[in-house]
Amino acid sequence: MNDVFLIGFMGAGKSTVGPQLAQRLSLPFVDLDAQIAAEQDRTIADIFAEDGEAAFRRLELDALASRAARPRAVVACGGGIVTLQESRELLGRLGTVVYMRTTMAETLARIKDRSSRPLLAGEDAAAQAEALLASRSGLYEEVADIAVDTVGISPARIAECVADTIRAQEAVR
Ligand code: S3P
Repeated sequence: MNDVFLIGFMGAGKSTVGPQLAQRLSLPFVDLDAQIAAEQDRTIADIFAEDGEAAFRRLELDALASRAARPRAVVACGGGIVTLQESRELLGRLGTVVYMRTTMAETLARIKDRSSRPLLAGEDAAAQAEALLASRSGLYEEVADIAVDTVGISPARIAECVADTIRAQEAVR
């Protein structure tokens, strides 16, 4: 089913905008990280600590693949979903991909709870975040069907704009 995938860096607002977008499109909202944590019965931080990032990326890929057999939804994806080529291909195949663009300054201001974000848990979170965002920006743009700037725009307004764009795209299909 043609899901609506929200992608973008940590702190871009995927989990805030997602439910509002889902409501506007009359679709359920799914948080892929929450689905993985529930299926694994452990936190994302514990999965990283116990099994490492590569194992988490495979779980992410599996969770994404599971979408094909589930009812259409707005799906918020973890910021690293674009890391694996297979996940990028699946995103494109299974739905409409919405990239929520943000800036480094905005990211650092928004990411307060670093305990749930193991990739930024080290001493120099700012440098880690900067390197990660630089390595991923091109990948986000590559898989995006729709890209939306988020800085200084309210979640409600972003949800409204994205919903309008998706409805317009679906009307011409
Ligand atoms: C990650 C982002 C997190 C979570 C995990 C890894 C990343 O999700 O999937 O900590 O690699 O950027 P959010 O983008 O929802 O914070």
